[in-house]
Amino acid sequence: MNHGQREKVFGALELSDANAGVFDGDSWTAGGAEVPVISPIDGSTLARVRQGNKADYERVIASSVSAFAQWREVPAPHRGEIVRQLGDELRRLKEPLGRLVTMEMGKCLREGLGEVQEMIDICDMACGQSRMLHGVQTHSERAHHRMYEQWHPLGVVGVITAFNFPVAVWSWNTALALICGDTVVWKPASPTPLTGIACQKIIERVLRRNGMPAGVATLFTGKGSEVGELLLDDHRIPLISYTGSTLIGRHIGEKVGHRLGRTILELGGNNAVIVTKNADLDLATKAVLFGAIGTAGQRCTTTRRVIVDKSIYDRFRDRLLAAYKKVTVGSPLDDAILMGPLVNANSVRSMQAAIERVKREGGSVTWGGRVLDGAGYEGGCYVTPAVAEVAGNLDIVKDETFAPLLYLMSYEGDVAHAVALQNGVPQGLSSSIFTNNLLEAETFLSAVGSDCGIANVNAGTSGAEIGLAFGGEKDTGGGRESGSDAWKAYMRRQSSTINWSGEIALAQGIVFD
Ligand code: UN1
Repeated sequence: MNHGQREKVFGALELSDANAGVFDGDSWTAGGAEVPVISPIDGSTLARVRQGNKADYERVIASSVSAFAQWREVPAPHRGEIVRQLGDELRRLKEPLGRLVTMEMGKCLREGLGEVQEMIDICDMACGQSRMLHGVQTHSERAHHRMYEQWHPLGVVGVITAFNFPVAVWSWNTALALICGDTVVWKPASPTPLTGIACQKIIERVLRRNGMPAGVATLFTGKGSEVGELLLDDHRIPLISYTGSTLIGRHIGEKVGHRLGRTILELGGNNAVIVTKNADLDLATKAVLFGAIGTAGQRCTTTRRVIVDKSIYDRFRDRLLAAYKKVTVGSPLDDAILMGPLVNANSVRSMQAAIERVKREGGSVTWGGRVLDGAGYEGGCYVTPAVAEVAGNLDIVKDETFAPLLYLMSYEGDVAHAVALQNGVPQGLSSSIFTNNLLEAETFLSAVGSDCGIANVNAGTSGAEIGLAFGGEKDTGGGRESGSDAWKAYMRRQSSTINWSGEIALAQGIVFD
């Protein structure tokens, strides 16, 4: 890693060689183990982070609870103004923060910058939303009664994020939680504590500058299996928002559900693109390429399957392979590179294991899947993106392998056959159809069409804007974050009836004298 570049980024984001990984609302102090943060670009140590222990956890939660008591009384538009200022700080620091994302988890720089842009966008949206936390008003069946619904702050929100969007997922949750009057305790993913510390320093400055308790947003780094568990069992935390694997999400859902806490679960995807004979193949090829290779196949919205009409299958495959052959793999800090490394050696191993399983189950690997460890790749976790041809949803196809491994399959007959293949997996996050035929598009979008939380026409499975609710069905967990009315999950609903009749009148016509 270029030393000067690291120094510049660290300077702008107030990071050091050794950092405390806990902010408790007052100070940065951590009493747990010190761990190195390894860059997947070249295996170098970016910095060291001291994780939190149980005593740190207690301080963090206590400060979040006490900050909530104050924060919930700040008028929502004022909270929105503070979130707007967070957006301005992110605008100012977009370059170093995007670069740090790239250095710490390996997505190419243009995507690192795009991720920070998503943070800015959600801050803008949340600021506007802070003046629109609307409830409904309706008519009572009783004379001189008024009924309405209002939304109140919920409490401390535990936000557990994944390495692949190490900063954006925090911001989607935090921008909304903050305008809703909640406080946030953030546990970033183990491979990406530095981006967590950098964001936390930014929001700490904004809160302090506004005379607000800095405990409104706190940070706790540590092992999920240790500190994550503390959050799950803690009755002081009414909502846990988790982004990550279905396996862990199921555990979180059960544990938090057991204490009747709420969850927002944004779990694995197995996203398909359907390409019909009425598709513009140029558009479809471009969208599949970005969907499959962007973030080195490590988005939850990554395109994992392409379901192609048999009559155009060969033509589409040849175009796609021609595009794959041009993909450059290498340091994600290099502007010419489209695909950086995987996050760590485990991911490389699980991609290799999946490729072996594809072959055992009867599929064939048509392109890529090689581990790159020669000159220029030393110390990093590089692979060539792989394309496998399969006859339908083999068992391995039903699993989400978090890597650039794309399955191509064909369908025959009308679009319902393609939809059956698309829906025939446990996950239900994102989906797309490429067609210029209205009937096919509307079938895909209808109640008998895609069963996913996201369904696009002539646009790929990944790269959603923040304006709509984000999340999916089935094993994807059902949670929604980001736009539309996702804010409601961060508030408690209160239904109120006001009687100004001077008498007690019972509903349903009941007389009780
Ligand atoms: C994720 O991978 O966890 O739609 C989120 C997208 C991004 C978000 C991905 N806006 O690809």
